[in-house]
Amino acid sequence: MICVGYGKIILLGEHAVVYGYPALAAALDRGVTMAPVPTPAGGPLRLDLRAWNVAVAADDDHPVARSLAAIADALTAGRPPLSLIGDAQIPPGAGLGSSAALAVAIARALLDHGKRAIDLATLIRAAGASEALVHGRPSGVDVALAIAGGVGVFRRSTGLAPLGNVPPLRVLVGPSGAPRSTAAMVERVAEATGARVDDARLRELGALTDGGTAALLAGDLPALGAAMNRAHGLLADLGVATPGLDALCETARAEGAFGAKLTGAGGGGAVIAIAPRDREAAVLAAWKQLGVDGFVATVR
Ligand code: MEV
Repeated sequence: MICVGYGKIILLGEHAVVYGYPALAAALDRGVTMAPVPTPAGGPLRLDLRAWNVAVAADDDHPVARSLAAIADALTAGRPPLSLIGDAQIPPGAGLGSSAALAVAIARALLDHGKRAIDLATLIRAAGASEALVHGRPSGVDVALAIAGGVGVFRRSTGLAPLGNVPPLRVLVGPSGAPRSTAAMVERVAEATGARVDDARLRELGALTDGGTAALLAGDLPALGAAMNRAHGLLADLGVATPGLDALCETARAEGAFGAKLTGAGGGGAVIAIAPRDREAAVLAAWKQLGVDGFVATVR
């Protein structure tokens, strides 16, 4: 069986979601896939993910090995003689939920190998054990989307509420290529806000998520784009934008996009834009001029 974890983009609400506000997020039509292949002759639990140049055994001293071990331990799966053979259609460390996609694919593969039920609570717990190693204290939005796919509104208190009947949305995704640390960016926002839930910028980000969700459901892309532009400004004010991310967003707008913003933690990582269909190629070409290979993802 091929086991999947989806990559994701956050349309609105990153960082505010850590403080309990809603985030509007969508799984990408790509992510990480994993096939469990038993090694009957014995040997360690291994993971091979050539797309990311990763080949580790669970007890190696390597970040991916530590994630693999944490997931296996959370599932009390031991160290079966098994190779998890993976593939990935998203880049690692680009703000597209790659670590959660990997963790969910691993957890599904281990459960499948053990012929165990693949239930939501177990997946969240197992993938969450890896995410805690990678990101500190994540809100859980990445794992929720990596498991469920689709589009939904995530809240820390209630989890993911999937949105049915969303008109298919084409999103331009631009991985900036600049590395970033989610934990460091979450810390930066805590410093900027004094970790106060009632910080006006966090509140406004939450309100933009509500308005943007209504716009998405109504197919009102100009309104969704306007919410994205404002959210980028607020995130910049919180200190998680960079000149490179700003330039990618400004370029997209100059080429006719309805809206553009950083997505995920910021400090590097990716930007997203939504644009009229006949402006998409121009946005992607302008990003290319800035050295960024963007792509169009359909979320639904
Ligand atoms: C990371 O994809 C999104 C953040 O809001 C962190 C989190 O929700 O854990 C920055």
